[in-house]
Amino acid sequence: MSSYKKRTHTCGELRKEQIGQTVTLTGWVDVRRDLGGVVFIDLRDRYGKTQVVFAPQHAQHAYEIAQALRSEFVISVTGKVEHRPEGTENADIPTGDVDVVGSELTILNKAETPPFPIEDSIDVSEDLRLRYRYLDLRRPMMQQNLMMRHRAYQITRAYYDRNGFIEVETPVLMKSTPEGARDFLVPSRMHRGKFYALPQSPQTYKQILMVSGYDRYFQIVKCFRDEDLRADRQPEFTQIDVEMSFVDENDVLLMTEGLIRDLWKKALDIETAPPFPRMTYKEAMEKYGSDKPDTRFGLEIADCSDIVASSGFKVFSETIKKGGVVAGFSIPGLAGYTRNQLDGLTDMVKSLGAGGLVYLRANDGKVESSVDKFVNPEDVKALAGRIGAKPGDLGLFISGPWQKALTILGTLRLEMANRLNLIPDGAWKFLWVTDFPLLEYSEEEKRYVAVHHPFTAPNPEDVLLLDTDPAKARARAYDLVLNGNEIAGGSIRIFSSELQSKLFGLLGIGPEEAKQKFGFMLDAFKYGAPPHGGIAYGLDRMIMLMTGMKSIRDVIAFPKTSSGMSLMDDSPSGVDEKQLRELSIKSV
Ligand code: AMO
Repeated sequence: MSSYKKRTHTCGELRKEQIGQTVTLTGWVDVRRDLGGVVFIDLRDRYGKTQVVFAPQHAQHAYEIAQALRSEFVISVTGKVEHRPEGTENADIPTGDVDVVGSELTILNKAETPPFPIEDSIDVSEDLRLRYRYLDLRRPMMQQNLMMRHRAYQITRAYYDRNGFIEVETPVLMKSTPEGARDFLVPSRMHRGKFYALPQSPQTYKQILMVSGYDRYFQIVKCFRDEDLRADRQPEFTQIDVEMSFVDENDVLLMTEGLIRDLWKKALDIETAPPFPRMTYKEAMEKYGSDKPDTRFGLEIADCSDIVASSGFKVFSETIKKGGVVAGFSIPGLAGYTRNQLDGLTDMVKSLGAGGLVYLRANDGKVESSVDKFVNPEDVKALAGRIGAKPGDLGLFISGPWQKALTILGTLRLEMANRLNLIPDGAWKFLWVTDFPLLEYSEEEKRYVAVHHPFTAPNPEDVLLLDTDPAKARARAYDLVLNGNEIAGGSIRIFSSELQSKLFGLLGIGPEEAKQKFGFMLDAFKYGAPPHGGIAYGLDRMIMLMTGMKSIRDVIAFPKTSSGMSLMDDSPSGVDEKQLRELSIKSV
């Protein structure tokens, strides 16, 4: 038998309808106000807050205990629900019409003074919040974030189940998969000198499941990548992982759009409008300077190479001769930008690797530019025309190698949109980016690397290019972008062991290494692999956007800091010599 009364209602539940009832609530003391002769407390649990009143005339004993209450004490309180006195109702909270007049009070546990108040708008360092994550997670905002996450799991499971998918768990201790990041390794005690890797994704397993005939698979799964962290990257994160057999791009995209529609409708009550626009990688780069364009605002980039290809300005003409681009965009109403402000932008683009920044100011009847000395006035006018600069507008241009120049312009475009507040609140701009290159040349590694991963199929029209100009071959890969964030990515896969071996060859993985690393997959493909493809959503990123957070750390219960630390339990941390000996590891 319990020594205290169990709750009859939650702290978010009482309304006028319960007036007159005797109820019991349990929870944490949010605030206590002692007005001398009467003590008010707000009692909090994850459902909300309820005001409780203690006064000697109602219950002397409960009133005396109430005087000892402090923030975050855990209590059980029994009392009668009453209408709050006229004029003291609180329309800001759902329980704001009523009070509970406390007649019995049990302190279930005391609490030390928390290092920060348990409320939404607190001004404390994230490190402190992470150290005391159990307190941080009591804040209503964090609780709503985790509840949104929970909703998303349920909607996802229901959606895929309804569509005939089955959820299969894949191992966490596995052989290394190449997703482009570094692996986390786990030493094996039983096999000295050997290691498991934690999955960067279940990519190889889900493809093997297709070979085994589980034609519609999904899993909500943890992935592990040892890479540099950012606001939208964690070393362990969650994917909604999906794979389908006998499909092409369209089938995967439609199935994905269906889940997005469900998630936004059921969790946010927002109608998205699939089918979402589709854009090739080339177009995304040339118009937005990014492979994950934010299409909530304009400032579109225009290629101006043809205008200045034969200009006397060597910086432009030489760049184009070498296969590069000159491109720019117009910013409305900014012709008055000062020299100082423009110098600041120049420094910014230089720090990103640009040689410099060319600008023009469009004024009534004339256009002046930073290259007036080198480029003739007709060409300057044509540049202004190409980027759509109207009187009063500022034009910014970068020249350089295709990818580099456009990427820098993309960063500049975002910077200007932020400065001018051009990004509308509450807009949801979904878009597919397709036709990524299959391979890119890594100067660092002096070999081709897969842009997506090595199992992605080349566009059938480009298979011959694999022998002649591999960098030109397009992949059957697609990313789903939302408001400038990559929230999902996938591809149609290679399903022939010959083509897969060829791809490994192009990636500099010789037959021996391929056999050692992926032999199981190449073997599996010899036993009747169906055509297949899939996708994985970054669940944390999606929830971050759905909850309006700026960092995925705010939607993960126990995240790591940007330096990969878990501050609450202080990991990574040292281990015993004995453990290391068992694993045959020498500490340095
Ligand atoms: P990809 O590597 O594109 O594809 O990952 C899929 C999605 O996962 C999210 N994501 C991350 N989120 C948080 N922290 C990270 N470190 C992180 N890395 C990636 C992104 C990304 O779009 N196996 C393939 C999928 C497939 O081909 O089916 C894969 O993992 O939102």
